[in-house]
Amino acid sequence: MLIKIRKGWELPESMVLSESAFLNRRSILKGMAGAGLIASVGSMATFRHALADTKDPSANLYPVPRNDKYTVKRDLTPEKISTTYNNFYEFGSQKTISEAAQALKIRPWTVKIDGMVEKEMEIGIDDLLSKMQLEERLYRHRCVEAWSMVVPWSGFPLKDLVKLAAPTSGAKYLVMQTFEDKAVAPGQKQFWYPWPYTEGLTMEEATNDLTFLVTGMYGKPVSKQNGAPLRLATPWKYGFKSVKSIDRFTFTDKRPETFWEKLNSDEYGFWANVNPEVDHPRWSQATERDIGTGDRVPTEIYNGYGDYVANIYKNIKGEALYR
Ligand code: MTE
Repeated sequence: MLIKIRKGWELPESMVLSESAFLNRRSILKGMAGAGLIASVGSMATFRHALADTKDPSANLYPVPRNDKYTVKRDLTPEKISTTYNNFYEFGSQKTISEAAQALKIRPWTVKIDGMVEKEMEIGIDDLLSKMQLEERLYRHRCVEAWSMVVPWSGFPLKDLVKLAAPTSGAKYLVMQTFEDKAVAPGQKQFWYPWPYTEGLTMEEATNDLTFLVTGMYGKPVSKQNGAPLRLATPWKYGFKSVKSIDRFTFTDKRPETFWEKLNSDEYGFWANVNPEVDHPRWSQATERDIGTGDRVPTEIYNGYGDYVANIYKNIKGEALYR
């Protein structure tokens, strides 16, 4: 996302531990243990914690059956591209945050469900996964910055989580928030951003068939840089609505002010539905660059998903539905 208020921030290389560096360190540690050197290293708790995190306990759930109702005419974006060209401001404002995001600890991971529900709850991600029927869907993903990709997400419909949460009849919105931990997400030290990253949907949007909670991609658990262990996919909206690494769902009767809306409501609004005819104040939305093929292609209204969602908006007047 481009934002005018500050220059981008770069993660110092010294703070990044790449997977290969990590694995290297791991084999060095093993070697040290074998040679009886480990006692001289002092406290190894940090490293043990890091090693415990390497095996994702949900890995054996994938691949999951594909739901053929959700296919896309374009080519799938190669995994190498969609997992290395990311927006995740918690780890930096460049696209190249994939290595920095490996610092995120995704177990234990507790999801809080609160607000206007029959009974508030906290549930571990693996318990949540065991309650849900996982499926794969091919979805288009269109960023407000006018690039796009096609991803095989795995996960479950958000409406199944809504059912589990049992909201009371007064709930009108569902607010979703990303974890907050400055120790692993250095971007959250940047005080001018309104952390935690917060997004919201109306209940009608949240319970639409298309609205998906992602737990996997490319037949594996979703990568950390793409929002492990739980992220949203609302493919008819600009990508900034797809909040990553969610640890809280709050049902409310008040429309939330979302992360980008707080920063610049003229450019990034609550609704953010894709529309080629409504330009961003600083660039055209008529076309988009497919980051897999490099082709520039026409943008479609609701990103091609009008049959699913156009009805939601037909009686909403006086709202900026397309930014
Ligand atoms: N969620 C969090 N927590 N932090 C972010 O910076 N960026 C958003 C969205 N979700 C973002 C986020 C934006 S601007 C986009 S385009 C998508 O994530 C990018 O998702 P991707 O990296 O999987 O393509």
